[in-house]
Formats: sequence, C-alpha cells, structure tokens
Amino acid sequence: MPGADGYVTELPYTLGYYSELNPRSVRDTLQALGFAVPKIEVACELGFGQGLSLAIHAVAGDCEWWGNDLTSAHLTTVRELTQGLGAPLQVFEQNFTDFCARSDLPQFDFIGMHGVWSWISAENRVCIAKFIERRLAPHGVLYVSYNVREAWANILELREFLVNHAAQTELASQPLEVRIESALIAAQRVVAEDLSPARDQPQFEQHLRRIRHQHKSYLAHEYFNRDWHAFDRTDIEQILAPFGLRYVGQAGSTNSKCFSRDLWVRDRVSVLRSHQISPRTACKEKAERSAADRVASTCELNNRLVRRALTEPYLTTLASPATGAGVDFDWRTLLALAAWRDARCKASDVADFIEHQLLTIGHPLVQNGAVIRDQRAMRSILEREAKEFVMGVLPKLQELWIEPMHGIEPMLGTGHA
Ligand SMILES: C[S@@+](CC[C@H](N)C(=O)[O-])C[C@H]1O[C@@H](n2cnc3c(N)ncnc32)[C@H](O)[C@@H]1O
Repeated sequence: MPGADGYVTELPYTLGYYSELNPRSVRDTLQALGFAVPKIEVACELGFGQGLSLAIHAVAGDCEWWGNDLTSAHLTTVRELTQGLGAPLQVFEQNFTDFCARSDLPQFDFIGMHGVWSWISAENRVCIAKFIERRLAPHGVLYVSYNVREAWANILELREFLVNHAAQTELASQPLEVRIESALIAAQRVVAEDLSPARDQPQFEQHLRRIRHQHKSYLAHEYFNRDWHAFDRTDIEQILAPFGLRYVGQAGSTNSKCFSRDLWVRDRVSVLRSHQISPRTACKEKAERSAADRVASTCELNNRLVRRALTEPYLTTLASPATGAGVDFDWRTLLALAAWRDARCKASDVADFIEHQLLTIGHPLVQNGAVIRDQRAMRSILEREAKEFVMGVLPKLQELWIEPMHGIEPMLGTGHA
C-alpha cells in the first residue's frame, strides 16, 4: 500500500487492550515511582491499531484523545466502536508523516504508542521524535514500548527464516495468512530434520513452538513487516534526551525481558521549539460530557463489544464505567455475558448458547492451550464455566458497573448450576 512504508496492511491487527496507555494508570505508576503527577487532559495515541484501548479510554475516561493509524480496517473498527457516543476523540486515517505534520493538533499531556517503535522505519522514528519534540507539553509524559535487543538476539534467525520463506516467488500470489502458515510448516520441517539454523540455535525451536498456533493477524504484524528492530534504552535516550525527556520507569505491572514499556517525562522544552507551543482549545464533546453521559456511553460501548465478541474469539476486554479503564476477561466470559443479557437465566442455557456460538463460527473449545474435542468433556467445561460466571464473574462485572445489579438468583436456583 502506498504510504505504508513496508508495514503489513493485508491483515488487520488483533483487537487488544493495553492498560499502559490509560492516563489514570500512567499517573498511578508515576506516583508510585515518587514523581510529581502531571495533569493529563489531552492525549494522543500513535498507530492505535484497531483502537480498542483508544476507544475505551476516550469513552470511559476523562481525557480528550487524538490518534492516527494508516490501516483503513483499523479506522473502521474504532469508528464502529465509538460512533455516536459523544466521546472526545479525533481519529485520522493517516501515516505518521502526514499526521505528524498536521497544523491543527494541540499540545499533548500524554503521547503513547504501543507496539509501534520496533516495527517502523528509521525515517518514521525520526518523524515521531520530531512530533514529540513539537507536541509534547512541558511536563508531559511519553509511553513507548519496543523489543529489547538482548532478549531478541537469538530469535532473529527464526524471524529471518520465516520472512524469507514467505517471500518466495512461488508463494507470491497467495494471501499472507497462507504464506505465514507455509513458513511455519517449513520451519517445523527444519526442526524435525535437525537442519541449520535450528540445529545450531536452540531458540529457533523453542520460539517456534511458542508462536506456532498464535493468531495469524498477530504473527503478521509481529514478524512479517519489512522493518523489525530491537533497541536498548540508550538508543531511545539518544533520541529523546535532547528534547528534555527523562526515563522514569516501566509502565504497567507486567515485567518482561523481551519488551520494554518505557515512561518518559519531559522536564524541559528544547529552546528551539518553546516559542512554537500552540494554545489549547478544549474539544466540544469534552466540554459538554457529564459523568452520567460517560457512564451511559460506556455501557453502549460494552454492548458493542459483547456483540462483536460473538464472532471475534480474541476479544476479551470490556470497559468499566467505574474506573474508566478496560478490564480483561476471557473470551467465553464475554459470550456468557451475551447469553445472560439475552435472558438465558440458567447455567445450562448459558452453556448451550456458548456451545452453539462455537459451532456457528467454527471455533474449537480451547482450554490451557489444548483443543477439547470430546463432546462430554466440552459440555462439562462449559457448564462449570457458566456456574463460575454466575458465582464469581457476574458480581465482579456489577462491582465495575459493567453489568447492572439485578438478581442472579434465577440462575443459581436450577438443577444445572
Ligand atoms: C503492531 S501494531 C500495534 C497496534 C496497536 N498500537 C496495538 O498495540 O494494538 C502497529 C500499528 O502501527 C500502524 N502503523 C505502522 N506504520 C505506520 C505508519 N507509517 N503510519 C501510521 N501507522 C502506522 C499499523 O497500522 C498498526 O496498526
């Protein structure tokens, strides 16, 4: 695609939620790290993917949001999720070059990008760095995540093998999903026959096993872009320190050696740019939204997510009107909620509903990474989960205001539950 600069646009990315992009979590993290907590009122997410985090934060949170992504299908999703909800959100189907050059953008208290920095070209990274220099407000916070060089060093050969296999001319006319599957099978063959590079590099086999059954959308974006770069913090520091940014710590609670989730704070504005700071105008939606509107629109966003989950097995997040954040569940929990909202009031009815849904979309029942094919075992898992939904999950959903408080007794009073 012109303007994509080597980035995969054939398959949309997975619909994931990242709490590291939540301004409230960012402030909590900074506070816990002992830093003065800046106000975050205007925020920007670069390369937001399908925009699940962006939609949740804009609809359920109290910040004004801006964002861009170059993939049309991604823009369609975020618009479908947020349309008509009055959220203070502006999204643009633009690449970084065009979005960052816009003259109508405000100063941002927070700029975040998740899963972007390692998968774009050096030119795009420079473009984003200049954007941060121009658009991040004094005392503003930057969140940037990237693959860590040391942790990925042994996996490079597998990635190269997969990319080279998928690029073979015989496969050129095939859809990307088919090329990825073919590359994975070829890599398995190399392992089985103990050929190089698998023979000399134990990580080849270990990492292959880890990714073998991951979703093709994820694999396409993680491994099959033209650009794939790993960094050390000093690389990032070289770019950001001249703009007055200082590394303050890791965002979120997950610690990974492979993936760094950096928070940077702007202590000072570079002298060159300080005179160019443009005044801020509050966007109309933000000024007019009351707390009640926010709760109502978050409930509608959750309705849309639950409906979407009926056909999207990788959707696992709902938005909490109580906290303004996304909350991760399990996909079948979203199906159970769909059943409950559809007045299925017995655990066995919930299990029926989920079983029917799995069959309708041809998705297997997977538990602890294994596909359950035995009919009785499947039924027993679904009924147990339905019971857990009523006893444990539903009260939690109610506590988070995701589901209104009304009786769960009918479900518990059955012979099935
Ligand atoms: C790995 S995905 C991560 C998406 C999202 N941040 C998430 O974590 O779910 C990287 C995203 O960057 C976008 N992207 C890549 N190159 C871009 C460019 N040059 N301009 C704008 N967006 C770009 C892609 O469309 C994709 O949605």
